Amino acid sequence: MKTRAGAGGVVMAVVWTVACGARAPGVCGDDYEATVADFDCLLALPEVKGVRVLNRCGAQPAAEAILRDGAQGARFPVGTILQVIPTEAMVKRGPGYDPANHDWEYVMLGGNPVGSRITDRGRAEVHNPVGSCLECHAGARDYDFICAGGHGCDALPLPHTALEALQRMDARCLPP
Ligand code: HEC
Repeated sequence: MKTRAGAGGVVMAVVWTVACGARAPGVCGDDYEATVADFDCLLALPEVKGVRVLNRCGAQPAAEAILRDGAQGARFPVGTILQVIPTEAMVKRGPGYDPANHDWEYVMLGGNPVGSRITDRGRAEVHNPVGSCLECHAGARDYDFICAGGHGCDALPLPHTALEALQRMDARCLPP
């Protein structure tokens, strides 16, 4: 009986991994390189202070707590994906990815439907029409580059309510 349950667990883990295109919790190792399948419908993801937060490496409670507490100096665990709009994300990579800038990878998602393709990813060179992601987010360097909460970034041209409206339009949330 025990063996069967164990095998069932393994099967479930494999099914979950294949179905979600993601790694099972806790198996990321030292780094986490997201694929497009790791970015889900935003409305289905946990939300803290208006930011969607998902940790793909088994550290979901820690990631949520850092966002909730907003403490100066705290660093997000590897495998954390943060988003406010469907087309842009920050992904916490392993130590060494960009040590001077806390190892964040900035990701742009596009394609048709929106979110079906990674169109750009990297460090300071990644930008949206307003500017370089990293350069603007560096205003919040002491808060692990998290702008939400008035941490010192230049403002976006859209109020947070408009960003929430964009979340509700996320094409990945529509039934197939
Ligand atoms: C001009 C400054 C600026 C630029 C450029 C910018 N952002 Fe932001 N970003 C912000 C601000 C301000 C917020 C907080 C918005 C809010 O909560 O209302 C934010 C929020 C976010 C968040 C939620 C976590 C957080 O830091 O609050 C993510 C993820 C994010 N931006 C990713 C990106 C990516 C990826 C790019 C580049 C493609 C980018 N941003 C470019 C200013 C900027």
